[in-house]
Amino acid sequence: MGSGADEDYAKKQANHPHNNSKFKLKILLLVILTNLLTIYVFTGPFSSNLVGYTTTTTSIDHHLSLPLWNSATMLNELNSTKMELVASHSIILELQQQLNSTNLLVQAMLIELTTRQHHHQGTSRKLSLFDKFIRGDLSSGLTDEVRLAIGSHKLPLGYSPRSGSDEVITPVGAGCLKFQDELVQYMAYEVGGECPIDDVFAQRFMLKGCEPLPRRRCHPKSPVNYIEPTPFPESLWVKPPDASIIWDPYTCKSYDCLVDRKNVPGFFDCKDCFDLQGREKSRWLFDNGRLDYGIDQVLKMKPGGTIRIGLDIGGGSGTFAARMRERNVTIVTTSMNLDGPFNSFIASRGLISMHVSVSQRLPFFENTLDIVHSMHVLSNWIPDAMLEFTLYDIYRVLRPGGLFWLDHFFCLGSQLNETYVPMLDRVGFKKLRWNAGMKLDRGIKKNEWYFSALLEKPMT
Ligand SMILES: *[C@@H]1O[C@H](CO)[C@@H](O)[C@H](O)[C@H]1NC(C)=O
Ligand SMILES: *[C@@H]1O[C@H](CO)[C@@H](O)[C@H](O)[C@H]1NC(C)=O
Ligand SMILES: *[C@@H]1O[C@H](CO)[C@@H](O)[C@H](O)[C@H]1NC(C)=O
Ligand SMILES: *[C@@H]1O[C@H](CO)[C@@H](O)[C@H](O)[C@H]1NC(C)=O
Repeated sequence: MGSGADEDYAKKQANHPHNNSKFKLKILLLVILTNLLTIYVFTGPFSSNLVGYTTTTTSIDHHLSLPLWNSATMLNELNSTKMELVASHSIILELQQQLNSTNLLVQAMLIELTTRQHHHQGTSRKLSLFDKFIRGDLSSGLTDEVRLAIGSHKLPLGYSPRSGSDEVITPVGAGCLKFQDELVQYMAYEVGGECPIDDVFAQRFMLKGCEPLPRRRCHPKSPVNYIEPTPFPESLWVKPPDASIIWDPYTCKSYDCLVDRKNVPGFFDCKDCFDLQGREKSRWLFDNGRLDYGIDQVLKMKPGGTIRIGLDIGGGSGTFAARMRERNVTIVTTSMNLDGPFNSFIASRGLISMHVSVSQRLPFFENTLDIVHSMHVLSNWIPDAMLEFTLYDIYRVLRPGGLFWLDHFFCLGSQLNETYVPMLDRVGFKKLRWNAGMKLDRGIKKNEWYFSALLEKPMT
């Protein structure tokens, strides 16, 4: 609300000098035009006629006096009139030039004024954020630790950084600055001491846009009686020891509880993902020719060994990465810890987990990954505009010829052809395989669909 009022104010401020200048310009024009007209009227070729028509008496006088003049004086008179005319013409020209240059000047001033206004608006908004949250110029409730964590830091003298700046600013998500109370709470700890157990709070803060979170100077609590992980490759398919994590934020206090959750009514994110001997065991091993693609069938679409590194977006308990690892493909699995310790579980299996949401730009350079996979996560709950940015980002990180396996994308029948097919085409993926099918249980009644697709980033 405050910023809206600011904008209105700024607009008024911007409009005012503009109108004022215009008004002044109009007045100036009027004055000049009046003068020009005066000069023209009294020196122009029909000045005598005009005078003649205004009063008949002068006209008669004029005509009567004519024969009394001799030709020499007449010539002289004419000559002087001619000279006057020339002079007045040059005056007109001069005035016109002045008018033109004044016009240019006013235009230049207006341009400068408006750009200054824009510039001022921009910097003042930036400054107020910066003041409030980083410099602490304003009396805000920020602690020193927050300012240290997210403020700018001067580089040592003589050190010339490649960034072209002599200071370093730690990146934090925009939401960190928008929610000051949460930021202060997140940064409230004893420096060098133990961090509060605030996983749930921190993750909510991330989902509000504070991603990445600021770094902290505290130690996360270690689990009591921690034991070394199960050696690889056994680690891929065994339930990790309960003592490998802190259970505090979760309703379950053991991995057995998480495995059993598949039998508990109610919604949990990736409900049956923790049971490695259950459904996870057979995922992606069989290709049913429809929505379920097999990993081996997908890998065969490319020359042997050319799919080496990739990403699984929202990869649950990491089974996709495990199956790929068995095929010598290294997959990074992104996951949030919604409803369960997914990141810890993936890591316990000896796989790489990354705690990022689907909102964030993928932390990979362009044209680097051989494959990107995503199951269930990318679906119609993501607003269209955001999804398009996500798809472009996936396209960006894939190398030419890289594969995008969009696995079980959920949507309504009407959205399939109206929204998602054109969007994927727009981003520029090539379809290697495409399967759409109605959702089995209640899908038929509600026109709910899934589609699976194997897409390729074009080679050129
Ligand atoms: C008009 O005046 C100019 C200089 O004032 C002079 O050179 C010119 O000869 C004059 N012409 C006539 C017709 O008097
Ligand atoms: C004034 O500007 C107009 C067009 O902007 C141009 O046609 C005209 O020649 C200019 N006059 C002078 C005296 O510079
Ligand atoms: C994976 O790599 C190892 C060592 O290079 C090799 O012995 C093994 O056969 C490979 N496995 C597959 C499935 O390609
Ligand atoms: C989408 O379009 C394809 C081809 O035009 C058509 O075969 C299919 O039935 C459509 N799907 C839905 C769900 O409308």
